[in-house]
Amino acid sequence: MRELIDRLRDTGTLSREEWVRLIRGRTPALSDYLFEQARQVRIRHYGHDVYIRGLIEFTNYCKNNCYYCGIQNQNSHIRRYRLTEEDILSCCETGYRLGFRTFVLQGGEDPWFTDERVCHLVRAIRKGWPDCAITLSIGEKSRESYEAFFQAGATRYLLRHETCNADHYRMLHPPELSATHRQACLYTLRDIGYQTGSGFMVGSPGQTPEHLAEDMLFLKKLNPHMVGIGPFIPHHDTIFAKEPAGTLELTLYMLGLLRLMLPKVLLPATTALGTIHPQGRELGILAGANVVMPNLSPEKNRKDYSLYDNKLCSGSEAAECLADLKKRMEKTGYRVVTSRGDSLVS
Ligand code: 5AD
Repeated sequence: MRELIDRLRDTGTLSREEWVRLIRGRTPALSDYLFEQARQVRIRHYGHDVYIRGLIEFTNYCKNNCYYCGIQNQNSHIRRYRLTEEDILSCCETGYRLGFRTFVLQGGEDPWFTDERVCHLVRAIRKGWPDCAITLSIGEKSRESYEAFFQAGATRYLLRHETCNADHYRMLHPPELSATHRQACLYTLRDIGYQTGSGFMVGSPGQTPEHLAEDMLFLKKLNPHMVGIGPFIPHHDTIFAKEPAGTLELTLYMLGLLRLMLPKVLLPATTALGTIHPQGRELGILAGANVVMPNLSPEKNRKDYSLYDNKLCSGSEAAECLADLKKRMEKTGYRVVTSRGDSLVS
């Protein structure tokens, strides 16, 4: 099995069968070997730097009904909120003062935020903080919309492909959403010139090693600037309430594999990873991750952006506790930096 890891490191590719074998055949010893290789690759390209992004969850209204997601349209048990432009700018103000140079605007697919409103907002942030990167994460839109946001000053876009396999995608999403369309959006974003982030959930209901192999092959082809992965975690108001969560172990293993396959990719240690294990983010960094995305949303709204149960939003997850995060990263042998942290992927 080590020879597969060595070949992945040296060539950046494996066949579908080899991916399946490597994912199925993992052992603690093999994982340790993988993480060691992944750290070497990450240090070669990014040193010991950990980039930070200020995450602003600006609306939890969503027109979609993704089966796994707590903010799906039909969930009537959550309190819906929408930040005003003023609220959002004040998050940026706070964030900038704390040292953030990337703002990630994430939200459900909320029709109230028309292209015009999104563009207005992006222009306002661009004007107020011209040295910062603006990342959007607001779902599937038309090419025209993506182009308009880009024109307005957004330079990065996050849209996870969730799962590459069409049948598996249908298990997780209602019929009006498709894997094909999701993937087409990603190619469009990349084509327009966005630094593009994709990704998937680990251990989502029905997921097999074959699905994960397909996710890896898809990401190799897309060659995104960033890949966000985290364990699936059930939300009590969804049909997947009783499904088991994805594991820390498999998530870390996939992080290590991603680092070897895409050496220069930006790889966040996600909130979901921090949620399933108290040291989740540190372990993610030690498996090859190099980004963390603390929460910059107003404190009063954080609990309502409930994608899954017990989602972390305090302690080092909170932007205002950056000092705590810095300390934790330093203990791990890494250091939080406040540069924009652009991707080295071209
Ligand atoms: N568990 C883990 N991740 C989830 N997401 C949505 N719902 C869940 C869940 N129950 C992830 C999706 C989405 C991102 C914003 O959050 O992958 O793209």
